[in-house]
Amino acid sequence: MELQGRSVLVTGGAGFIGSHLVDRLIREQPHNLVVVDNLWLGKLSNLDSAYQAYPALRFYEEDTASTRAISHIMRRENIEVVFDLATIPLPASLKRPKWSARQIYDMALNICELGRRGLYRTLIHCSSSEVYGTSAYAPMDEAHPLLTRTPYAAAKAAADLLVQSYQHTFALDATIVRPFNNYGPRQNDQNYAGIIPIVVRRILAGQAPVIYGDGEQTRDYSYVTDVVDGMVRVATTDATHGMVVNIASGEEVSIERLVRGIAAAMKYDGPIQHQPDRPGDVRRHVAGIERARTLIAYRPVTPLEEGLQATIDWYIDNA
Ligand SMILES: NC(=O)c1ccc[n+]([C@@H]2O[C@H](COP(=O)([O-])OP(=O)(O)OC[C@H]3O[C@@H](n4cnc5c(N)ncnc54)[C@H](O)[C@@H]3O)[C@@H](O)[C@H]2O)c1
Repeated sequence: MELQGRSVLVTGGAGFIGSHLVDRLIREQPHNLVVVDNLWLGKLSNLDSAYQAYPALRFYEEDTASTRAISHIMRRENIEVVFDLATIPLPASLKRPKWSARQIYDMALNICELGRRGLYRTLIHCSSSEVYGTSAYAPMDEAHPLLTRTPYAAAKAAADLLVQSYQHTFALDATIVRPFNNYGPRQNDQNYAGIIPIVVRRILAGQAPVIYGDGEQTRDYSYVTDVVDGMVRVATTDATHGMVVNIASGEEVSIERLVRGIAAAMKYDGPIQHQPDRPGDVRRHVAGIERARTLIAYRPVTPLEEGLQATIDWYIDNA
């Protein structure tokens, strides 16, 4: 499906990945580009470059779970394609599990339901590799069982199952993208931040970076512009239509290596603190990306060191 000339909505579009997706979508020349975000974590400043490139960008500060608000926006903007990225992040689900899980579930249910009612045509739903839990086998392809460990992961898995149930029961035109661990400019570095922004922020503040657990736990890191390119590829090909598609690097990196890499790039040679494991932390995480490689010719182009340097530079410039 071409995105050129379409009316496209991005939920969570003022967030980290969502705002980069908006930047990327502008290159597809949509007829109309709309962002919904309640700014719970997202920031309007994340859309500065998008407004520059595409002054007609429409922004609504609304709740993705609100049937009334979102149906009104979809009608008013004649939405055809929805990229559904709004979420409550994993760390929040450790502090406010019931609320976080409900939010994630309710947002997905609302978007599915509005699709069933014909308010848009095509859904690209954003899942998370957290739904796989710790690796039962590696690399973890899309057939890997859903061994969720946190309320965030369980709610994301429930959201995926809802999307699939609407596909099967109501012929909802939906495809699920499943990114692994993402990093890059604009990733939230305040409340509920992920490891890369936290480590960068601590080093900038003259504090020792912290590793939870033994540091041998692994993740699969992708630079955000590679990931949003994968999402657009999924949306614009028929080859992955209706499927689940992992979007990742396929490279396994230990947290120890990651933190030492950031420290080296920032010329920090002080101590690294170790603290006990975080509850629910997955042990091993590495993606099987054969489906993305073969069906959307997905090739991550940003090496970790290069992406980390660009990310660090951004946090320094935006401190
Ligand atoms: N960051 C990662 O490493 C990663 C990895 C795998 C999957 N994902 C998925 O990618 C998507 C985007 O994640 P992100 O890292 O950009 O997160 P983010 O927190 O930066 O962005 C999420 C956005 O959703 C918004 N939001 C929250 N509740 C909302 C609501 N009720 N209505 C409207 N907007 C709401 C927030 O304000 C925020 O701007 C999510 O679906 C997430 O599960 C992220």
